[in-house]
Order: sequence, then C-alpha cells, then structure tokens
Amino acid sequence: MDKIIIRGGNRLSGTVPVSGAKNAALTLLPCALLTDEPVTLRNLPRLADIDGFQHLLNQFGVSTSIAGARPEDFGRVMTLQATRLTSTVAPYDLVRKMRASILVLGPLLARAGEATVSLPGGCAIGNRPIDLHLKALEAFGAQIELAAGYVRASAPDGGLPGGDYSFPIVSVGATENALMAAVLARGTSTLHNAAREPEIVDLCNLLVAMGAQIEGIGTSDLTIHGVNRLHGATYMVMPDRIEAGSYACAAAITGGDITLAGARAEDMAATIQALRDAGVLVEPVRGGLRVASDGALRPVTLSTAPYPGLATDMQAQLMAMLCLANGSSVLTETIFENRYMHVPELNRMGAHIETKGRTAIVHGVRKLNGAEVMATDLRASMSLVIAGLAAEGESQVHRLYHLDRGYERLEEKFALLGADVERVGGD
Ligand code: UD1
Repeated sequence: MDKIIIRGGNRLSGTVPVSGAKNAALTLLPCALLTDEPVTLRNLPRLADIDGFQHLLNQFGVSTSIAGARPEDFGRVMTLQATRLTSTVAPYDLVRKMRASILVLGPLLARAGEATVSLPGGCAIGNRPIDLHLKALEAFGAQIELAAGYVRASAPDGGLPGGDYSFPIVSVGATENALMAAVLARGTSTLHNAAREPEIVDLCNLLVAMGAQIEGIGTSDLTIHGVNRLHGATYMVMPDRIEAGSYACAAAITGGDITLAGARAEDMAATIQALRDAGVLVEPVRGGLRVASDGALRPVTLSTAPYPGLATDMQAQLMAMLCLANGSSVLTETIFENRYMHVPELNRMGAHIETKGRTAIVHGVRKLNGAEVMATDLRASMSLVIAGLAAEGESQVHRLYHLDRGYERLEEKFALLGADVERVGGD
C-alpha cells in the first residue's frame, strides 16, 4: 500500500487549483437516476470515491462516459444516462466501501418506485445511523422495511404522494435523499430544519436545471413541488471548500503565502473566520483566495456546527494548525461523537492535545517532530500531512487510501506549492 513521505520545513508558496467538491459530486451523481436523459457533470474531481460511485451507478444500468480528460488536467467531465434502470439493488459490497452509496435510496425510489440498499453499518467517525433518511422518506409516503441488513423502500402505485418532514437534528445526507425523492413526487413536500450546506444548494441547483420545482433554496425550509418528469442537464460541480480550507491550514502552519485558485470565499466564512482569529491573513483575490501567515499563530476557541457554522470536516486540519499556536486552543466537536482519532497521532509528533468527551484542548508547542503515523479517516489523514509539513524531519503517513478518497492528486498539488511530499509504494 502507498504511503506519503513528508520532509517538513518548507514554507508553502504559489498557486494551487481547487478541485470540484467531493461531497457535492457524491450527491450530484445520483441525480442521473432521476431522468432517462443525459446528465453531464463538469469539474468532477478525480477521486476514489467518485470512481466507486460511478461503479455503483453502472450496477443500476446507468451508462457513464468520461470526455476530454488529459492526464495532466485536474477534474473531468462525466456524462451519465439512465435510459432504463436494470436493477434497484445496492449491494453490501459496494455500500460498505462507501457510505455515500445511501444517497441512491431517494432517487431510485422516486424513479422506479422501489429501492433496496444495504445498510451502511458503522464507520470510523461514529455510528452514523440513517434513521432520518428513512423517516423523511416515510413522511413522503414510502413504505420502509428492514431485513437481513438491507433497507427496502417502496412507493404506492403511481409514485410517492409527498408530505412534510421536520428534521430533529440537521443531517446533510438525509436532506439530500429527501430532496431527490421529493422532486418526482405526485404532490408537494416540505422539509423543515433541513441542512443548508453549500453542497445542498449545489444539489438544488442541478435539480432545478433538470426541471425540478424547489422553493427556499439555501434556507432550512424547503418546499418541493413534485413534477412528472425531469430532463437532462449540464452542470458544473462547485469548488471544494474543505479541500481549499485544508490547503489554507497547510499554508498557515508553514508560515506560507499561497493562492487557492477557484476557492469561493462565500462558502467558507466560518473557516476563514477561524483562520483570521488565529492571525492568518485571508483575502479574496481575483479568481480565488490568498492565504498568508508569518508563522505566528494565535490560539482560538472553535466549535463545529451545521452550516453556516464551522464544518466538522475542517476540525482535524484546524487542530493540526493550532498545535503550533502561541497558547491553548479549545475545540468542541458537536457533530460526530468519535472524531478525535488524529489526536494520539498528532501527540506522537510532539503535539500536546488533551481530550475530554467532545472537547479537545490544544496546548501550543514550539515545534513538531516527524514521525510515522496513520489515520483512520480522510480529514484526520490530512491533519497529519499538515502537521508533517511543519514538523522537523521526516514524517510518513500510512493508509494513503483515505487521502485518495478525498484529495485529488495531493502530492502534485503540494509540489506546486514547494512542499517536499512524495508518494511511495509499500506500507
Ligand atoms: C455529510 C458529509 C460529511 C460531513 C457531514 C457533516 C457527504 C458525503 N458527507 O455526511 O463529510 O462530515 O455531512 O457535515 O456529504 N444522523 C443521524 N441520523 C441520520 C443521519 C445523520 O442521527 O439518519 C446524525 C449523524 O450521526 C451525525 C449528524 O446527524 O451526528 C450529522 O450527520 P450528517 O449531516 O447526516 O452527515 P452525512 O450526511 O453522513
């Protein structure tokens, strides 16, 4: 298995292109199930998770083709067409590898009147149940059965009637599944306390481009007027705010000065505020964002929250950066219960972090040292890379497949910024 070797100490400088957003792409792809016409997605990131989702859609009879991708390009264009669905079953083997597979439940149900999807099971960052996905679909008139590790959802003859659902807690995935189910319902549906992450707005924008009728886009109250059919569309995936934020933390911890080409500041307000509070310069420039630091970082108090709050997907990277702040920072993780698995690894690199329940206290240290480390999830892995960039000596980050799930051509992008980061085989 591949690993990444980082020789720390280089100040990052230069320009790095921001890829299309993984989490947006993973909810835009299943929209192809909602129509028999072609859906073309531009700016899709080249990631293991996207390949996995493409494979899953192929299982349902969706044809996929990739156009005009030169090896040196970031991103690619994929055209998907679900002329006729040949299956509505998402098997365990595929769902197990990629939790986002659950996002086929809503669109399969809407298009075919039934869907059978393996339960995703546990995951490295907590239990992650799907009860809210199922309750929202039930509220729209679906019948839900659980058996042998699978969920089977079916609609009455003639399709889902539609209905009203109020989320007890904000869920990105459940909001996405509910939206994709409601757009083809016979009647009107409403969602209250819906997630309003920029990726949800991206999903709504594609659905509207396909002929859906959605009111309240960008708010937590959505009204969806079901239509008889949707048509094809061509859509550009939004830039990845989490990837952009990750490179910003890397620049900050190395006292660097970089430009994130294509980053959209308006999607990243909470991350930008956290960086500024830590003493990092973040300024919009033509076509992106400039992030610069003189290396003197201030401690901050941060708490993750649903959008527009600070993204839980930025917690580990900001924590790595704050390891070198001049004082103690307090981080609280409110979304997932088990999302501090990077802490022991950062401590092995010389960090001084204490955790108590959902809170982590990051006592700033003067320096980090290189070490062999490994992480159990995507963003945790990135936090170790960020720490390694500022550490003295060499770090090796194992289990590179986590990074390949979510960071397009990481080592090439870091090379553009002057970092000494190398991918090698063998783990
Ligand atoms: C999505 C993102 C993930 C991000 C997360 C929170 C994708 C592919 N993944 O994950 O990167 O970290 O949003 O911003 O877009 N919950 C329930 N029942 C449910 C669903 C969720 O209790 O049916 C809980 C979860 O356990 C968690 C909270 O709700 O505590 C938020 O989870 P959710 O927003 O659903 O996360 P995902 O959509 O899985």
